[in-house]
Amino acid sequence: MVEKRKVILDCDPGHDDAISMILAAANDKIEIEAITTVAGNVEVDKTTLNALRVCDIIGLKDVPVAEGQNRPMVRETQIAESIHGDSGLDGPNLPEVPSKESIDQHAVDLIIEKVMESDGDLTLVPTGPLTNIAMAMVKEPKIVPKIKEIVLMGGGTFGNWTPAAEFNIWVDAEAAKVVFTSGVPIAMFGLDVTHQAQATDETIERFAQIDNPVSEFVVELLRFFKKTYKEVFGFDGAPIHDACTVAYLIDPSIFECVDVRVDIETKGEFTYGMTCVDLLGVTGREANTKFAQSLDQDKFWDLLSDALATYSK
Ligand code: RIB
Ligand code: CA
Repeated sequence: MVEKRKVILDCDPGHDDAISMILAAANDKIEIEAITTVAGNVEVDKTTLNALRVCDIIGLKDVPVAEGQNRPMVRETQIAESIHGDSGLDGPNLPEVPSKESIDQHAVDLIIEKVMESDGDLTLVPTGPLTNIAMAMVKEPKIVPKIKEIVLMGGGTFGNWTPAAEFNIWVDAEAAKVVFTSGVPIAMFGLDVTHQAQATDETIERFAQIDNPVSEFVVELLRFFKKTYKEVFGFDGAPIHDACTVAYLIDPSIFECVDVRVDIETKGEFTYGMTCVDLLGVTGREANTKFAQSLDQDKFWDLLSDALATYSK
């Protein structure tokens, strides 16, 4: 029996972040305490607007959305509009003005408040750069022992922004180093597994058959996302990277994971942002990460399809 998980979704929507939100909101094993936003795919004002728009589409009215950091801890802001478009959610026609605004509280302070008032049962689910999470740990170290788990999308044994680094980690490797050395239990969904979660034309058609406003929204997201992934990487599918985090929380059996040591490179000219995944244990350093290596395709796509079908027509 999988326990119900209280989560904060820290995200940079972003097509796959949006689908991750949709999956979380649809499943009663997930209780979304808050949504926090960070600059990543696009600037934080846009990721916040997108998070609010997605909340409208899925009817998530009572969950607070707090805007976070617009730049990494040390480096200058880097965004990925080549993949997600100028708005960060190009493709679907979205209402310009969401029905609610983000709260006045900064995301970092909301994360601190929610963790400190929790019983140690709060899971952080970052699917963008780790700036907000790291800043919260630095500002209030007392949250570290109270965080149940960090289930993140990022990193991998190869890169998609440089040969060595995946985008989320590359944007703010210093933040990633704070998180991976914190001692908080980490489950890492890197490119090794998220590239197996590619939505093909067949998957998109399967979702289109569900025929409700949310599934239509996801179909439009995926059609755009698949197009940019074809143009930029030559892929025949759209990797729904971020949804792997929530899928794991709902049904861990979907994934095969190994416990390994992961260290973050923050100095290398060619390797800045690399997650050094010690698969063979050659460092002898204590494992700090549950590293996802593979996923059960049928279970993953059935979970997403079933989630979309829960939304009303
Ligand atoms: O490298 C993939 C990651 O970068 C995903 O989280 C995507 O949304 C972008 O943030
Ligand atoms: Ca993301």
